[in-house]
Amino acid sequence: MLSQFILTAALAAGALASPVEYIGSDWDLEWISKNDSLPKVVIYSTGGTILSASNYSSLDNVKYGSGVGPTPQELIANVSEVLDVAQLAVVKFPAPGGSAGINSTLYLNVTQYANRHLCSEDSDIAGAIMFHGTNTLEETAFGVDLTFNCSKPFIATGAMRPDTYVSPDGRSNFYQAVAAAASPSSRDRGGLIVFNDRITSIFYSTKTNANTPDTFKALEQGNLGAFLAGQPFYFFGPAYPTGRPYFDVSNVTNLTDGLPAIIIVYGHQGFDASLMYAAVANGAKGLVILGPGAAAVSPSALAAAKDLYSQGIPTIAVARPVTGTGVPDPTPASLIYSSYVGADQARIMLQLALNAGYDLDEIRDLFESPLRNAIFGPAVNQLAYYGTTYI
Ligand SMILES: *[C@@H]1O[C@H](CO)[C@@H](O)[C@H](O)[C@H]1NC(C)=O
Ligand SMILES: *[C@@H]1O[C@H](CO)[C@@H](O)[C@H](O)[C@H]1NC(C)=O
Ligand SMILES: *[C@@H]1O[C@H](CO)[C@@H](O)[C@H](O)[C@H]1NC(C)=O
Ligand SMILES: *[C@@H]1O[C@H](CO)[C@@H](O)[C@H](O)[C@H]1NC(C)=O
Ligand SMILES: *[C@@H]1O[C@H](CO)[C@@H](O)[C@H](O)[C@H]1NC(C)=O
Ligand SMILES: *[C@@H]1O[C@H](CO)[C@@H](O)[C@H](O)[C@H]1NC(C)=O
Ligand SMILES: *[C@@H]1O[C@H](CO)[C@@H](O)[C@H](O)[C@H]1NC(C)=O
Ligand SMILES: *[C@@H]1O[C@H](CO)[C@@H](O)[C@H](O)[C@H]1NC(C)=O
Repeated sequence: MLSQFILTAALAAGALASPVEYIGSDWDLEWISKNDSLPKVVIYSTGGTILSASNYSSLDNVKYGSGVGPTPQELIANVSEVLDVAQLAVVKFPAPGGSAGINSTLYLNVTQYANRHLCSEDSDIAGAIMFHGTNTLEETAFGVDLTFNCSKPFIATGAMRPDTYVSPDGRSNFYQAVAAAASPSSRDRGGLIVFNDRITSIFYSTKTNANTPDTFKALEQGNLGAFLAGQPFYFFGPAYPTGRPYFDVSNVTNLTDGLPAIIIVYGHQGFDASLMYAAVANGAKGLVILGPGAAAVSPSALAAAKDLYSQGIPTIAVARPVTGTGVPDPTPASLIYSSYVGADQARIMLQLALNAGYDLDEIRDLFESPLRNAIFGPAVNQLAYYGTTYI
């Protein structure tokens, strides 16, 4: 019985000193615990396949969703080993429309809770994990990662197989995510994805397979660690991804309004640049374009990007190949290159930068300066190279 493990139900809402004022009121956590000396890990549940079930068969991993899946509390009961490594509490988030229907409202909401629960001065919570549908996990996770203000682990996980599958990956992912969130070795690394026995950086990870459990990869940057006997082993000491920024979103007062709209367009032979104008006419405050090769764009797309830039609308160019990057021009220009930030992630980073009031030069610096500094050297060299500095 799960209920016999429930020990405490108390983090008084007023007891958490917080640097900013947050929207919402329900900050109390009810801890599920069988040992109150264990680290506390909070579960932010937005749903997804990890909490799904098929009512067809134990081999169904394609048409599930109609069945009734476990609640987070039932999953804890099913994977009771988690209570040997952590005390757990659950916060459920509304995520209407499922993974593919979500917008910035969700990551703004999750990050408010995560900052409040984990980053308050007197917080005694070791880390957080987030359940999320895998289709857009990398987007919500990235939004939280760039707005989360402390060194504790924030770990996204999920599943590719429903809980009813003959060998559900969600249960293993769940255990490993909790073990990683409870471990001090997971601190000071930025947000992490724990999936299929591996740990990767949220900043660099993407879903690489539509169907199989080995889907989240940072193809170029690699795995930060792996799990052995359920415990995380990190290949390197703590380090943050190069150029990972932090954005304070505490001035977003209405979560439903969301952040500025950014549209992603896909460059290809015969690309129609009028789509870029159409996006802006439809309310986009910025664009991301996937350019073939090292983020090459067609002459008509480049002309549109320049024109839109002159109207205050930034276009971020991302390399279309699966790995690699576009390289910024030596002389800063109106097309802005994303460095190693992927298209899904560049959309969110631009959204956050616009919300923070960045102007076009600051947006260019945000995306380009890590690579610009690496390639063209320190500011003093840049001065010699093109007459000014852009860091
Ligand atoms: C509770 O957890 C602590 C810390 O890990 C451990 O030292 C202790 O042995 C545990 N107690 C029980 C009864 O398992
Ligand atoms: C599965 O559940 C859905 C409703 O949730 C129902 O429409 C469907 O007929 C069920 N299928 C089977 C095989 O029971
Ligand atoms: C999982 O938990 C549910 C609800 O607590 C229970 O009905 C079910 O039998 C459990 N399944 C397994 C495989 O432990
Ligand atoms: C944010 O999450 C809380 C906790 O689940 C929920 O009560 C609230 O309705 C959510 N707000 C929005 C705008 O989705
Ligand atoms: C926390 O926020 C401050 C500014 O408000 C920022 O300088 C700092 O880098 C942030 N820390 C983390 C770990 O994001
Ligand atoms: C947030 O904005 C939406 C639509 O813009 C509005 O319907 C809602 O009432 C606002 N919520 C609050 C709490 O002001
Ligand atoms: C985002 O989704 C929420 C539902 O979670 C909806 O209320 C809101 O209007 C959407 N916001 C935007 C900007 O589309
Ligand atoms: C948030 O604050 C920044 C300054 O830190 C400001 O430029 C921006 O306009 C604010 N955004 C909103 C939505 O209030």
